Amino acid sequence: MTNDQTTRILPVQRLNIKGPTDKPLPEWWASERQSKTPEATAIEEAAELLRTSDIPVAFPTETVYGLGADATRSAAVQGIYKAKQRPSDNPLIVHVDSLAMLERLLNPGMSAADTTDTPLKSIPLIYHKLLSRFWPGPLTIILPNPSGSSLAKEVTSYLTTFGVRMPASPLARLLIHAADRPLAAPSANASTKPSPTTAQHVHHDLHGRIEVILDGGPCAVGVESTVVDGLSDPPVILRPGGIGIDDLRQCEGWENVQIAYNDGSHEVKEAPRAPGMKYRHYSPKARVVLFEPECSEEKVAKRVRKDMEDSAVGSHSVGIVRTRHWAPGLGLYEPAEKEKTLQRIQEAPTGSLVSFSVPLKDHVKDCFTSKPAYDCALGTDVGLIARGLFAALRAMDDEEVDVIYVEGLVAEHGDLHAAVMNRLRKAAGAELKV
Ligand code: TXA
Ligand code: MG
Repeated sequence: MTNDQTTRILPVQRLNIKGPTDKPLPEWWASERQSKTPEATAIEEAAELLRTSDIPVAFPTETVYGLGADATRSAAVQGIYKAKQRPSDNPLIVHVDSLAMLERLLNPGMSAADTTDTPLKSIPLIYHKLLSRFWPGPLTIILPNPSGSSLAKEVTSYLTTFGVRMPASPLARLLIHAADRPLAAPSANASTKPSPTTAQHVHHDLHGRIEVILDGGPCAVGVESTVVDGLSDPPVILRPGGIGIDDLRQCEGWENVQIAYNDGSHEVKEAPRAPGMKYRHYSPKARVVLFEPECSEEKVAKRVRKDMEDSAVGSHSVGIVRTRHWAPGLGLYEPAEKEKTLQRIQEAPTGSLVSFSVPLKDHVKDCFTSKPAYDCALGTDVGLIARGLFAALRAMDDEEVDVIYVEGLVAEHGDLHAAVMNRLRKAAGAELKV
């Protein structure tokens, strides 16, 4: 499709799916589609596109929006790489609606009737506890790709393994069920950009490149799934995400799980690395400067002020993304505006941007001037921070901010902290400050 074709956003959040404790999905869907509500029609249309078209469909999951394609058709999977402009040497995650669908993937040639009462038979024992605890949910496991596999080669990037997850989002599972295909789905952003957590984010990045975006509202988790490999001994975490290391360690066989991702977290106290290095990812247009949580607020405020003073007049605005401790606007607002600014910041919804101006000394002209800044408080709860993080980076881009200063978290806390810091480190590339 050409860039001037319209991309439609189809709302599906009103679909009345109550989750795993309600009726089984197939039964529920059979009755729902009869009613021909706009939402059911949207799901049917998306499912039909997934089966027949080579243009991917964007859909909500509990982590981030995915860009889905039939994982068994090469041309369809190539459509993902095309739409995202993503290099094709990075394997994709396969999404299934049920253990039965996974069982069929692991046993090419097996009929649907053979799979229903032996759901974990073909899955290595090491994963059983994990799956009973975290599936459906934000956990991706690595499995051997069987010989004669129905998965397109483009999904695995020619590896002998594949990554798979069963999303917790009932809408995601419903779409997979309606399409009756496992779906390969990376995050539905343009390559290198922050992952999308709303349908509008997807539209911003991919309009004109895809036909349909299913809008299920904002994502509940906000960062991608945790990717684990239990085929190696000891098992490892390949990407931190929605399930934390402490939760994994409570499962039999995973007490000694190791971290096998390298986001620079072990090197941050060394000399800053060159910008644009391989870690750059999840990046807004603006430069991101991440401060480790132990860095004093005073030092941060000084650094921001200096950067603003040193930059050319009229061409510099900054964003401040706060989490636990930083004061509103890092206290950089005009003293005379203090009360008004604080009131606006306090009244703003969590994760929204509040503009204010920073009084500065113009060293060249030896006078005072001011430059624009935006304050964004993500909240103090790590779940809220994860949910709001990518949206905040994108909102700063919408305001054409030049540099975003972010207050980091202690990654070693065993839950979502590591995922949040991992995404921030990648967004910041070399720009890490202790
Ligand atoms: O939350 C998520 O996982 C989202 C939503 C849409 O479900 N999806 C997602 O997919 O993040 P993607 O394709 O962007 O992430 C793929 C990750 C990469 O880090 C990739 O290296 C890893 O999974 N991966 C996939 N298959 C693999 C394999 N066979 N071996 C090792 N890593 C694999
Ligand atoms: Mg991604």
